[in-house]
Amino acid sequence: MRRVHNFSAGPAALPDPVRDRLGELFAVPSDRRPSLVEVSHRGRQFAAVAEELLERLKRLMALGQDHAVLLLQGGANLQFAWVPMNLAANRTAAYLITGHWGRRALAEAERVGRAVVAGDSAVCDYTAIPEIGHLPTDCAYLHYTGNETIHGVQFDLPPAVGVPLAADLSSEFLSRPYPYRDLGLAYAGAQKNLGVAGLTVVVIRHDLLKRIPEGLPKYFDYRTWVASDSLYNTPCSFAWVVALEVLRWIDDAGGLAVIGERNAAKADALYQAIDGSDFYHNGVEPGCRSQMNVPFRLANHELESRFVAEAEQVGMPGLKGHRALGGIRASLYNALSSEAVESLVEFMVEFERRYG
Ligand SMILES: Cc1ncc(COP(=O)(O)O)c(C=O)c1O
Repeated sequence: MRRVHNFSAGPAALPDPVRDRLGELFAVPSDRRPSLVEVSHRGRQFAAVAEELLERLKRLMALGQDHAVLLLQGGANLQFAWVPMNLAANRTAAYLITGHWGRRALAEAERVGRAVVAGDSAVCDYTAIPEIGHLPTDCAYLHYTGNETIHGVQFDLPPAVGVPLAADLSSEFLSRPYPYRDLGLAYAGAQKNLGVAGLTVVVIRHDLLKRIPEGLPKYFDYRTWVASDSLYNTPCSFAWVVALEVLRWIDDAGGLAVIGERNAAKADALYQAIDGSDFYHNGVEPGCRSQMNVPFRLANHELESRFVAEAEQVGMPGLKGHRALGGIRASLYNALSSEAVESLVEFMVEFERRYG
């Protein structure tokens, strides 16, 4: 049987060993002992999951004592509102826009309080990272989207500015070594590189907690989650269990340095295939092309739906571009193997031979 390679942008593929392990964890044993998602989140069995999950997360992010790691729900979209509610109550938030998700984050901040645009690459259809303009004197933070999942634009490093950084790292979380400790705040949904939908990781520098206004609903106050070790209410325990298995897999693979090299090689191979042919096109500036999500067009747009359908027929689902942009998008998250990219490149060559 042909091996299926899942190029979905999210929810995305899980590593094979993680899927196998989940099968073992949730297979019904003959004595019907409760599994990890059938016990209290305050009991000993689940506490061990929480402890190991946080230990591995902090170590992989190379965080020290300055940051708290929170395990929340609601996805990045809830953080779009939650971040300004907590950090921009009496200050102005600044947003660096490199695509769809940054715009969504800005729109929510505008609903909550004062927000300004510090740079915007809409003028070049989000194919570059804009210069950072003037930041307000009462700037609460500069928000940026580490990797714009739809447009395929990625910051190599966090922007260098003199204000706290707030980063949406949803689609590049734990995909390479990254200076997490330089950030004031970061957030990411788990459904791309950390398992399944439901869990949202938030990293926040302790000193920023002092800026949170009094009077927020308790649920929306980050301090509630720091004080309760992320167990203020019932967590999405299945997503925690999966995340722990993913982190073990990352450690077993050799950590973020190894994962990062593998991801860079996968992306290079695909961009080479695109750039080496007039049949395919990616318009993002080479210096900020995403290693995680590679959107591209065919010279003849009418062939794109055929490309997606034929790729799926030969075992490569998930290649349809986001509806906002059209075209093709290959998502190359941690769980996607180098062999998957090789198969895609072979398919592209063959498709061009037949239709070019
Ligand atoms: C960069 C980025 N930000 C935010 C989101 C929205 O995430 P969620 O569905 O977890 O709210 C996504 C989803 O794909 C994303 O890629």
